[in-house]
Amino acid sequence: MHAGLNLLVLALFPFALATPLAKRAVAYYAPSAGGGSELDDAGSGGGEPLNVIISGLSSPDVLTDDGIVNFAHALGYSKECLDKHSGAAQSANLGDGNGWVDQLIEIREDYGSSSVGTCLESLVGGNHFRVWRQNGASADSGALFLAVSKEKSATDNHDIVANGYNIGRNLLVSAAVGKTSYGDYTYSTTAENITGLLAAGSDGLNHGIAQDGIVTLLTVTIV
Ligand SMILES: *[C@@H]1O[C@H](CO)[C@@H](O)[C@H](O)[C@H]1NC(C)=O
Repeated sequence: MHAGLNLLVLALFPFALATPLAKRAVAYYAPSAGGGSELDDAGSGGGEPLNVIISGLSSPDVLTDDGIVNFAHALGYSKECLDKHSGAAQSANLGDGNGWVDQLIEIREDYGSSSVGTCLESLVGGNHFRVWRQNGASADSGALFLAVSKEKSATDNHDIVANGYNIGRNLLVSAAVGKTSYGDYTYSTTAENITGLLAAGSDGLNHGIAQDGIVTLLTVTIV
């Protein structure tokens, strides 16, 4: 549709595409291009991979604070159980000019009950993710960058399980792809794997746990 429209505009007004007619929309900007990193800072000397990106080309309502929480509900996650939360906030630099900023929100698997499930997850371990938004003036994609991992229980200080970065990403992605819904919203989600943003291996990684270097880009459309 848009490509066709652009061609029509180009045919009628060959000068028109030189100046943008509407706000530019991109999926994301590579953090490294703006001095940022695809690893967050876990405060331990290492970082966790930002291994899932919710594309800036998703429906705008998905990319707000309330929007990502509702989408997370649709995948079986909730805002974390605050009372049981023992981990410290982590920070990330998405190369958008905002520098290192704390996570916006942390979301945990809810085990089928939004009210007590996340507390249960905190006690027994499970999947969780932290969220940052790429919205600084120099790379304003609006994309959400997620650090996803599968962790042990609270008694193990929320350590990541072996292979927990890859496992966490794959669990979240398989819950997301296709049609999901929560509240008044139904989502249609597609996934694409991206290499080159993140080096494979365990260099610089929190807990020294290796990951495969794949970042999965999710495009989430409200239908
Ligand atoms: C992305 O890579 C993971 C890990 O290799 C794989 O399990 C998954 O099927 C891939 N997804 C897509 C959309 O290619």
